[in-house]
Amino acid sequence: MKAIEIRNKYLKFFENHGHKIIPSSPLIPENDPSVLFNTAGMQPLVPYLLGQKHPEGTRLTDYQKCLRTNDIDEVGDNRHLTYFEMLGNWSLGDYFKEESIKMSYEFLTKELGIPSEKISVTCFAGDEDCPRDELTAKCWEEAGIPKDRIYFYGKDDNWWIAGEEGPCGPDTEMFYDTGKPKCSENCQPSCDCGKYVEIWNNVFMEYYKKDGKYTKLEQKNVDTGLGLERMTMLLQGKETPFDTELFSPVMDKLKELSKNDDIASRRIVAEHMRSSMMIVADGGRPSNIDRGYILRRLIRRMTRHLNKLQIDLNELSNLLDLNIDNLKEMYPELDSHRQEIKDVIIAEKDKFMKTLNNGEREFNKVINRLKNQGLNKIDGKIIFNLYETYGFPPEVTKDLALENGFEVDLTEVDKLFKEHQEKSRMGSEQKFKGGLAEQNEKTISYHTATHLLNAALKKVIGENSHQRGSNITTERMRFDFNCDHKLTDEEKKKVEDLVNEWIEQDLPVTVQTMKKEDAIKSGAECMFIEKYPDEVTVYTIGDVSKELCGGPHVKHTGELGHFKIQKEEASSQGVRRIKAILEDK
Ligand code: ALA
Repeated sequence: MKAIEIRNKYLKFFENHGHKIIPSSPLIPENDPSVLFNTAGMQPLVPYLLGQKHPEGTRLTDYQKCLRTNDIDEVGDNRHLTYFEMLGNWSLGDYFKEESIKMSYEFLTKELGIPSEKISVTCFAGDEDCPRDELTAKCWEEAGIPKDRIYFYGKDDNWWIAGEEGPCGPDTEMFYDTGKPKCSENCQPSCDCGKYVEIWNNVFMEYYKKDGKYTKLEQKNVDTGLGLERMTMLLQGKETPFDTELFSPVMDKLKELSKNDDIASRRIVAEHMRSSMMIVADGGRPSNIDRGYILRRLIRRMTRHLNKLQIDLNELSNLLDLNIDNLKEMYPELDSHRQEIKDVIIAEKDKFMKTLNNGEREFNKVINRLKNQGLNKIDGKIIFNLYETYGFPPEVTKDLALENGFEVDLTEVDKLFKEHQEKSRMGSEQKFKGGLAEQNEKTISYHTATHLLNAALKKVIGENSHQRGSNITTERMRFDFNCDHKLTDEEKKKVEDLVNEWIEQDLPVTVQTMKKEDAIKSGAECMFIEKYPDEVTVYTIGDVSKELCGGPHVKHTGELGHFKIQKEEASSQGVRRIKAILEDK
């Protein structure tokens, strides 16, 4: 069965079971600066999992374009992918465990034809936050899975949440037995040996986690996710997703063009090319921060591996066409953005090649200096610096150094890279903690300034103006709000003056914890009411602003400096965007 047939079967099956098919959200979340890319089907649905009414009802199904970058360095092996498609079905306070399990079992065995004996399942073993999930196990038994293929595990395996805060709950995972021999007597689905492959995850979302504590949600939801590439691979009896029709035309072409047999490089090129195309089609552009940086890394890594395969880089245009043609039935947006995708990716490749050339010049200088000193060894710091400053890949440095008769010790390079990766990993984890990339004096000031700006906009353009999003760096703030017109110069000036007046008044910023309903009653402003748990923190600034917010904030507005609007522009239909800075006074 081809991937697209599996997708269609899935959507049809759930449609027949009363679900409305909704479109995939773009890979880049709308109005949610706290995540870089959608990493699961539930992400665009968070407000509805928290209780907001979805216009399509309480049973939904879709395919969602997802990108996960934690394992980017693992791509090249036989299973890791950055971009993937997640098939999902949701109950928003509608059916729960029983019906969800019944439907999953029926879909796997009847629609996909997987023999029941090949399926094992896991359930939540229970702990102080949530009891053992006996009901789920019972439902599986009733569906037809015998006790000896039902396993119980703790939170590490059978609890699902996106990040540190949000809707979550115990889950039940379905595993496919590949028929490979057991790696040990105790070989189980939780084992990583490859005998069991996870194929579907049903999360019973009835909790909300915040600050390490769990509270019950108002409604019991089901959130499921089935990885399309993996399912396609298993049903086709293939060893890797790269052997399925999703990748094979590109993989074959790369093999034909390359001058060596480096399969890891071929996979990296095919995989990163697909992810980059999907990001560009959804509006992403390479840059040095956040999403743009991930796209840049993907394109650069792809280029390096094209080089490694000794493929003429002018082939990139044809390879992109081939890849788009191969995937356009599944993703028509690739076809409609074909030129844009090619222009952006090829321009970034060219830019990177310049970097490589500059790096090579710098490398030659270093080599000559060392030669003059009578040395024949390059140390790790030099290699790492060439990478950090010029983006010059260490493996290229190594090859060139060896050609020049130099010795290279890559262990120190590895160590420096690990430290570097650790730092950037910590950086991206921060992103999940509420949209503030780094929390320092500057970003905290900007955060408080968004509250003042929000309040000023209400005074100047009307109470109906609400925040629709924000994004803060150490350099500037960006703030999106509802407004049906371009602000006049006079309005901008009024907003600026109001904010600066409040800063001059050095108003106190105070915080209180209260019940969500009390907060709303007290008139506190809030962007997505559904996103908040029952207990909320409310930040009050003098008598000008009151907002539900996780903080942190400055203590007095006098700390902010001088507020200045740099730009006011359209963001999307009915939403305007202000970019502003805080200048030192
Ligand atoms: N949200 C769940 C997952 O990503 C279904 O596994």
